[in-house]
Amino acid sequence: MTRFSVEGPTPLRGRLRVPGDKSISHRALMLAARAEGTSRVRGLSDGDDVLRTAAAMIAMGAVIDGEQITGGRLHEPGAVIDLGNSGTGIRLLAGLCAGLPWLSVLTGDESIARRPMDRIAAPLRQMGAAIDGRAGGRFTPLVIRGGDVHGVDYTPPVASAQVKSAVLLAGLAASGETVVREQVATRSHTEEMLKAAGADITLHRVGPGLVARLRPSRLHAFEIDVPGDPSQAAFWVVGACIIPGSDVVVENVYVGPGRAGFLDVLERMGADVALENHRGQVADIRARHSALSATVVSGPEIPSLVDEIPALAVAAMTAEGSTVFRDAAELRVKETDRVASITSELSALGARAEPLSDGLVIHGGKAASGGEVNSHGDHRIAMALAVAGLAGEGTTTIEGWEAVGTSYPAFAEHLASLTR
Ligand code: S3P
Repeated sequence: MTRFSVEGPTPLRGRLRVPGDKSISHRALMLAARAEGTSRVRGLSDGDDVLRTAAAMIAMGAVIDGEQITGGRLHEPGAVIDLGNSGTGIRLLAGLCAGLPWLSVLTGDESIARRPMDRIAAPLRQMGAAIDGRAGGRFTPLVIRGGDVHGVDYTPPVASAQVKSAVLLAGLAASGETVVREQVATRSHTEEMLKAAGADITLHRVGPGLVARLRPSRLHAFEIDVPGDPSQAAFWVVGACIIPGSDVVVENVYVGPGRAGFLDVLERMGADVALENHRGQVADIRARHSALSATVVSGPEIPSLVDEIPALAVAAMTAEGSTVFRDAAELRVKETDRVASITSELSALGARAEPLSDGLVIHGGKAASGGEVNSHGDHRIAMALAVAGLAGEGTTTIEGWEAVGTSYPAFAEHLASLTR
């Protein structure tokens, strides 16, 4: 295990670009592999999660040459596919494989082995795929006998873009229409990118929900510039908001639907954040220090910021009052049980943090005190702790720092560029 130490308080100043969006990167690789012809994908995430998905697509017959991805001639993988730490990689790939007429065996690391897979196994079985795995398909490894699937009309019981996407990717090859009805809308990258690759798909908002209808479709090659990942930008934005003397611009970040909820929360807390150079779904985010006050984060906004709760919890430490995150039971089935990992590690830095069954409470007004903390193998916990340490007093040492490689291998280098 590697350790990483930061000293606080250290202001963050400057401009930077974060890695390409992880959600879009996984989808770009899978859709380009499925499409006829050669797609051009610029700016993929360089994290291990996305490298695993790229390796999986190569194992299934895609040819990747720099920005060019040639697809359309996929075949049965000759060996077990290991998606490492990536929930998005394994769940989306399970959907893709369910529509293809061969056997696929998908696995991952010890964190993936604890995460629920029945949420995708159930609808994919309803579509006609045979799915097995430990505990009857609740856990990895997953064994998928795909092909011969038919459309379904599915209402996911949890707000999950991964579940929605798995069903839609299987639906590409299904007979008949596939309908996914989300009660609460989640990120819509899959739907948007399917459309850009020529799929016959429509999207309708219904109150806070979203209904996608997909007819079986062939995909054509496409071009995409993957924008910066808002989930990585969130660490620098929160850092700049809470550390006196900070002024940071994160350039070229995706701020489209379902991803920018953390900015709304920070604004509610009184943060000095602004979108500059806004073009379509992309903008530069500027953040400067200001005093924050507590807020309640709950309900339909949760899916739009679920990955940013570790960073927002750090912002809540410095805010006046008690910030409550609820309706966020999904936190318990992320790379770690994040209710447990956030509360235990921020408490180790002197925070007053309480777990709830579906979220947590952070009693603010107290900067981190420095100390020794642990990522528990979770990249977002590691980076959130680094930001807490930069905002706090003294030295904070994070054990298990290697976890950041999952999504942001250059985090420490970028931090150095902002503190120079
Ligand atoms: C993702 C969906 C979310 C998110 C994950 C990425 C995606 O997971 O937490 O990091 O790319 O579809 P859930 O679908 O489990 O909510």
